[in-house]
Amino acid sequence: MSAAIYNFSAGPAILPAPVLEKAREELLSFRGTGMSIMEMSHRSSDYEAVLTSARQGLHSALGLSDDHEVLFLQGGATMQFSMVPMNLLHGRSADYITTGAWGKKALAEAAKFGSVNEIFSSADTGFRSIPANDELRFSADAAYVHYTSNETIDGVEFPYDLDAGGVPVVCDASSNILSRPFDVSKYALIYGGAQKNIGPSGVTVVVIRKDLLENIPNGLPTLLDYRSYANAESMPNTPNTWGIYLIGLVCEWLAEQGGTQEMAIRNAAKAKLLYDAIDSSDGFYRGHAELSARSLMNVTFRLTSEDMEDDFCNEAERAGLSGLRGHRSVGGIRASIYNAMPLKGVETLVGFMAEFASKR
Ligand SMILES: Cc1ncc(COP(=O)(O)O)c(C=O)c1O
Repeated sequence: MSAAIYNFSAGPAILPAPVLEKAREELLSFRGTGMSIMEMSHRSSDYEAVLTSARQGLHSALGLSDDHEVLFLQGGATMQFSMVPMNLLHGRSADYITTGAWGKKALAEAAKFGSVNEIFSSADTGFRSIPANDELRFSADAAYVHYTSNETIDGVEFPYDLDAGGVPVVCDASSNILSRPFDVSKYALIYGGAQKNIGPSGVTVVVIRKDLLENIPNGLPTLLDYRSYANAESMPNTPNTWGIYLIGLVCEWLAEQGGTQEMAIRNAAKAKLLYDAIDSSDGFYRGHAELSARSLMNVTFRLTSEDMEDDFCNEAERAGLSGLRGHRSVGGIRASIYNAMPLKGVETLVGFMAEFASKR
């Protein structure tokens, strides 16, 4: 982050400044080796230590037990939309919960591999809500149930860890992983592209319960089979060495800050500030999500016209507030306030919003 800019982009997104500074310091000669981490063999002992530290960093940040394993893959969260059914469907059917644009994509992809039941969708009401756990009826014979814990485009978030009463739970947590403690023991598989709270783009983190690895069908393409990563320290081929290195640094930073528990406190405070500004604007700003579904990571709102929204984004950009334009598919404004966004950034945005509204 350069000094005068606050980056509200949805992802790739803001990274903690101390992480970038450390990476800069080590860029040309990694810890006295005389070469950059980017130039180093992924099979070298120096690199093995980096990979181990990133894996352990996530293990500890997520509070994992030995039942789960952390894997590093490529192909983004989007590739998980295919890998999850390829590895876990086993000729059965799966339940899908659709609360936004990403869940819809995950469902469409899974349907290419077998039978899927959409047991909940808020599409008809514009992806503004999140179902209560006891509203959901899971299929007893489902191979798994898939949901998206935070919908990055729509700005709706599950305020609880889903309990599917014995059906294995698979979760796309791309945009809220590490933002608060998750009860990972409740999940069969959690995945996320790194480029929001975990690190840079180009790495996907998969946390898988180890027993699932035992029933994966044979014959999958090597790089689309979770076992290839589990059996080879996440290196069935050359990994994204640079990305994994940065993930290790982000985990160190997170631990120094007090971990996900401290993040939950800070993130709730930042989101409250922003939602209060929206709610006290006499309708000048209108939040997209229902109150109980509001995301603490991606705050989506509208102004009274698209022209006004355009002016808002342009003026904000000039004031050093970057990346506020909503996703191209829905428009509006979206402020992404991930772990690395300081409170000061949100205070500056709220100040800008008040000034923008008062001038009109
Ligand atoms: C919740 C969610 N799922 C999936 C994706 C797709 O991720 P990727 O671009 O890493 O494939 C995104 C991207 O922003 C996302 O926010």
